[in-house]
Amino acid sequence: MKYPIYIPEIKENERKYVLDCIDSTWISSKGKYVDLFEEKIQEFTGVKHAIAVFNGTVALHLALDVIGIKPGDEIILPDFTYIASANAVLYLGATPVLVDVSKETWNITLDEIKNNVTPKTKAIIITDIYGTPSEMDEIMEFAKSKGIIVVADSAESLGATYKGKHTGNIADISTYSFFGNKTITTGEGGMVTTNSDEYNYLLRKKKNQGNHDTIRYFHDVLGYNFRMTNIQAAIGCAQMERIEDTLERKKNLFGWYRDELQGLVKFQKIENYITSSIWMVCFLLPKNINREDLMKFMDTKGIETRPFFFPIHEMPFYNNVENKNTIEISKHGMNVPSYPQLKKEDVVYICNQIKEYLENNG
Ligand SMILES: Cc1ncc(COP(=O)(O)O)c(C=O)c1O
Repeated sequence: MKYPIYIPEIKENERKYVLDCIDSTWISSKGKYVDLFEEKIQEFTGVKHAIAVFNGTVALHLALDVIGIKPGDEIILPDFTYIASANAVLYLGATPVLVDVSKETWNITLDEIKNNVTPKTKAIIITDIYGTPSEMDEIMEFAKSKGIIVVADSAESLGATYKGKHTGNIADISTYSFFGNKTITTGEGGMVTTNSDEYNYLLRKKKNQGNHDTIRYFHDVLGYNFRMTNIQAAIGCAQMERIEDTLERKKNLFGWYRDELQGLVKFQKIENYITSSIWMVCFLLPKNINREDLMKFMDTKGIETRPFFFPIHEMPFYNNVENKNTIEISKHGMNVPSYPQLKKEDVVYICNQIKEYLENNG
C-alpha cells in the first residue's frame, strides 16, 4: 500500500527516551516519563490534572467509574461514535441511551440530549468525532442545571479547541487515546483529564489497584491496574515536543483535500469558533456512489481508505434504535490517508483518483 490510512511519526527522541528506559531498567509504570508526560498534557491543554493510563478504552472505563456510574444509571451518548465510548457504559452495568447526531456536525446535539433525559440520567458522554468538538457551552450549561455529569470522549481530538479552550479542559472529565493512528501516539495509551481534585484523587487511586493512602497492600476501594508504562510515556514525551508542528501539518493537509474535493463530497461542518484536530480527514460521498466499490478502486491505486464507524445500535449487544442521521452518515462516510508526512502532491494524487471514480460512476 503506497498510501496507508495512517503512519505514526517516530523520530530520534522517541528512540532516545525509550532506550533511556531500557538502559535504566525503568520499564514498568514507575519512572520519570509518566509524570513528565502528564505534565506535558496539562501544560498543553491547560487542564489541572492529567492521569496517564494504558489506553483510551480503560480511560473511559475509569472515568465512568470514578464519577460513580452504577447499574440502573442511564448515560446519554451519541449513536455515532467508536464502540469504546459505549462499551464503557456496559462495563459498569449502566444503561446506554443512544441518541442521534447532527446531520451537519455529526456530533451529539442539545436537542437530542433534552429529548432523552430522564430522572435516571446520570451522565452524558460526548464524543469529539473525528477530532471536532461538540457545542460544549450549551451542553455544559444544560447538564449543570440538571446535576448531570459531562464526560468528553476526546480520544480523537487532542489539539482541538472550542472557543479557544482545549478539549480535555472543558467537560467535567475527559479522556484521550494515544493509539498508533492518533495525533500523538504512545503505541497504546490513554489519559484522563479533569479540573476536579476529588476526581484526580480517585482516578489515581483506582488506576492503581485502589491502594490505601498509607497502609501497604490494603485496598479500600475496588481498583484496577490501568497504569501506563514508562516506555509508553517516554514515546509520548517525544511526541508532545512536536505536537504544534504535527497539528499544523494536519491542518494543511485537510486544506488540500478540501480544495480538491469541495463540491464533490460533503465535509463535516466546523463552526468558526471551533478548531478540529483533523484526526482523520473524512467526508460523506454522494448517495448514488457505492462506497465499497470506490474503496476497492482506491485499493488498486495503492490508497487505503476506511468506512465510517457503524452505528452503535447495530451491534448485536445494543438496543436497536432508529437514528436516521447516524445511519446515513455511517453509510456514506469515508476516511482517507491523514498522516502529517503527506505532501501536497500526495493529496492531489489521492484526490485525482477519487475524482476519476466519481466522474465515471456518478
Ligand atoms: C472516539 C474514541 N473513543 C475511544 C477510543 C479508544 O481508544 P483506545 O483504542 O486507545 O482504547 C477510540 C480509539 O480509537 C476512539 O476513536
